[in-house]
Amino acid sequence: MLQQNGVISKLLLLVLHITTNYASPLSAPWNVTMESVNMRHQLRWSPPRASCSTLHYSVQFQGEWELRYKNGSWEEAMDCQYVPHTECDLTTDLASDSDYNVRVRAECNGQDSEWTTLSTPFNRRNTIIAIIMNVKVSGDAVQVDLAPHSPVAMIVTLTIWEQGEEDLNTPKEVVNIQHLFHIFQGLRQGGNYCLQAQATVEGSSRSGSTDIQCVSIPRPQGPWLIPVVVSCALMVTMALACLLGWASKHRRLVMQNTCFHKEPLPSVLVDDWPVTTLILEEPHETLEVAILLQSPHQKADQEKL
Ligand SMILES: *[C@@H]1O[C@H](CO)[C@@H](O)[C@H](O)[C@H]1NC(C)=O
Ligand SMILES: *[C@@H]1O[C@H](CO)[C@@H](O)[C@H](O)[C@H]1NC(C)=O
Repeated sequence: MLQQNGVISKLLLLVLHITTNYASPLSAPWNVTMESVNMRHQLRWSPPRASCSTLHYSVQFQGEWELRYKNGSWEEAMDCQYVPHTECDLTTDLASDSDYNVRVRAECNGQDSEWTTLSTPFNRRNTIIAIIMNVKVSGDAVQVDLAPHSPVAMIVTLTIWEQGEEDLNTPKEVVNIQHLFHIFQGLRQGGNYCLQAQATVEGSSRSGSTDIQCVSIPRPQGPWLIPVVVSCALMVTMALACLLGWASKHRRLVMQNTCFHKEPLPSVLVDDWPVTTLILEEPHETLEVAILLQSPHQKADQEKL
């Protein structure tokens, strides 16, 4: 009797399991998209509405090889089995220039959803070649940095030409660069130069270019500049000397202002503070000197008083 009860309850559990799992089948992932930039292929999808805490996803693909020679079977994407994220890198799986069907399904508490297939087959020939160029001028040199890197070998060609001469035969310097970094040196000072980089996937015709960027090489500092700077420095020094001379005459006053002013003075002394009368009697320059010789901190102290 007890054994019979056990069997019945097990059967009931089984029925319950079947009804809960199959009454509301797990819906499939949706909005499956492929983003392929610089030959890196990233599959993305939106999660289905489901009541389990963690959904997992698996991705399969089917290329011309599978269609032709393997009776249309599907291959499991290597790094995209039972993954918790809603994206997966298929770069190593989709490794030929053929059309691929790609599909993804969700899994929740041991139950699989239907497959959702990418709406159009993916072909890596349609990858977007994106290249970013940063140009920096320093002296008569232009430094060029290129980004980002790609999982496949790319040939980057950098072109530089001088702007202004509308002649189409203006010589252009073209370099193939290996390390996504190049410096053009000895450019004409005062000249305007334009640069453009083009990246091509090795062994294919896929390529992409940056926008044209133009920079100007600064002119050398004229020889007249040195005497001007020297005489300015002389004038400033002389002016400072005059001010200091004046200041030493009024040393007592200045000393009080600059050195002994850190502690708040009793109000009796503050009332006799000579600066007030000085400012009123003497013209503008006096005030400037008093301020010049104080640090901002001390000035603030004075203002508080
Ligand atoms: C569909 O996927 C794309 C790319 O992942 C995303 O930008 C877009 O917001 C998604 N659409 C919806 C309706 O979720
Ligand atoms: C190919 O698939 C068909 C139907 O899907 C099947 O009948 C056939 O046996 C398969 N052939 C091989 C070689 O797997």
